[in-house]
Amino acid sequence: MYQSPKKSINTKDSKKKKELSKLREKSKLGGGKKRIQNQHEKGKLTARERIEILVDEGSFVELDEFVTHQNIRFEMAENKPLGDGVITGYASIAGRSIFLYSQDFTVFGGSLGKAQADKICKVMDSAIKTGSPIVGLLDSGGARIQEGVDSLAGYGDIFYRNTLASGVIPQISIVLGPCAGGAVYSPALTDFILMSKSNAFMFVTGPEVVKAVTGEEVSFYDLGGSDIHGSQTGICHLVGETEEETIDLARKLLSYLPQNNLDDAPVKFDEIEENDQSELSQIIPQEENEPYDMKRIIKIITDSDSFFELHEDWAKNIVVGFARIGGSTVGIIANQPLFLGGAIDFHASDKASRFIRFCDSFNIPILTIVDVPGFLPGIKQEHEGIIRHGAKLLFAYSEATVPKISVIVRKAYGGAYIVMSSKHLGTDINLAWPTAEIAVMGSEGAVKILYRKKLASEKEPEKVLAKFSQEFKDEFANPYQAAEKGYIDKVIYPKESRREIIFALHILQNKREQTPKRKHGISPV
Ligand code: HXC
Repeated sequence: MYQSPKKSINTKDSKKKKELSKLREKSKLGGGKKRIQNQHEKGKLTARERIEILVDEGSFVELDEFVTHQNIRFEMAENKPLGDGVITGYASIAGRSIFLYSQDFTVFGGSLGKAQADKICKVMDSAIKTGSPIVGLLDSGGARIQEGVDSLAGYGDIFYRNTLASGVIPQISIVLGPCAGGAVYSPALTDFILMSKSNAFMFVTGPEVVKAVTGEEVSFYDLGGSDIHGSQTGICHLVGETEEETIDLARKLLSYLPQNNLDDAPVKFDEIEENDQSELSQIIPQEENEPYDMKRIIKIITDSDSFFELHEDWAKNIVVGFARIGGSTVGIIANQPLFLGGAIDFHASDKASRFIRFCDSFNIPILTIVDVPGFLPGIKQEHEGIIRHGAKLLFAYSEATVPKISVIVRKAYGGAYIVMSSKHLGTDINLAWPTAEIAVMGSEGAVKILYRKKLASEKEPEKVLAKFSQEFKDEFANPYQAAEKGYIDKVIYPKESRREIIFALHILQNKREQTPKRKHGISPV
């Protein structure tokens, strides 16, 4: 009997559709229902659940869902889960495109073989080509042991792309499970590392190897959990209590960033709310060494609730983070008198210089708020290489060609005056409050050096010290000597700060600066 061509096409078509649905279903199950259940029992989300939280609803487009490994050793020929332990693709976050990968721990513990690496490299290449940020969600046992050198090659391919992408597109790593061995070096090459308090850890050699080599006993978490990397090593920029919170932090972080190095950061005029600027004049204490919280100044000067701090628990003597001023993203670096009196130590130098280099690569203006008594003295500081670390900060400020604005609110002493975005390092607009003290050092220290012999011969040296210190303060502890020489462009009332910064950002928005042609500078590391 005659069959209409339409019907026969339909039959074949529906078979093909079923085949595709089956494959998709299979791919979605990753390592299978039991392993998904295990993942949940450990208090962890699956790779797909994490993507759902990260991206705008319904925006995720998956790629390479049927990729499998090609390994035939160690009984692997019969064990070829679709997708090979990583979910890759593109999506949008707040309407802006990103590429992403999310490691699936249910497939060989998320371990990385050649096929997984190729999938990750493919989305990295696409991200670079299209100028879109790349976000990685990491949860992996590291190099896939069964694949030998192929898995090492895979890591190498990823590290190479991390380096090529550096300064071109923002790279964000969200660590939500194990990240061990050489695998830590891909996140370490990216711009931002986020870790969840639960279940995330990063180390080069795990507790067992540590015990075998050094005899030390330590847990996974104490060796490389978010507490360690968020407060001691500075490897982690942001810590979330839960996976959901950590992923939300990544969304928030992206809202401050441009898509790539040729783009400008998004402007959010609709969210501008003015804070009461008159409060600024009540923050600096009468006593010269009395601490206060620099974040109060930052919060008043910036758009309401816009300050987004990075490295909150590491090197607390310097504060870094993004904020908006008049709707535009700025990178803020500020000394924090609450910790070490705001002095700069080797960690603070590293923290600030890295942040400055990120801002400079991605067209984000830099605002520096200064209250710094100097570099931190001490044997530990000298022996840990404060010279080398401090030089990074000088290099980063000098090298940066984005708009640079500074406000000295109290102390700016010695080398730390120079390093904290002084005019001499190419800062465009240098402002100072009337409370600014710009000097080679604090008055008492200076008098003790200048009048050492005289003080030793006095009957009441304390009185003489106090008298000379006051004279020294009257002469130097103000912004006017620097203003006379043009090192400070303008002395302003505290309440004028926000307005002056907005004007400065406006006038500097088309800033162009030529630096000598070269392959690249050699920043001290
Ligand atoms: C292959 C792996 C694997 C790996 C885990 N699995 N790691 N398979 N290669 N590297 C598998 C396990 O066999 C298991 O399979 C499943 O993943 C889940 O692992 P479990 O151990 O049951 O899970 P858990 O108890 O949560 O422990 C997770 C873990 C642990 C802490 C990550 O698996 C572990 O210590 N793995 C090894 C970590 C490691 O040393 N990696 C190599 C680092 S060297 P089944 O079938 O039982 O479910 C490295 C070099 C890279 O990465 C160099 C780059 C330059």
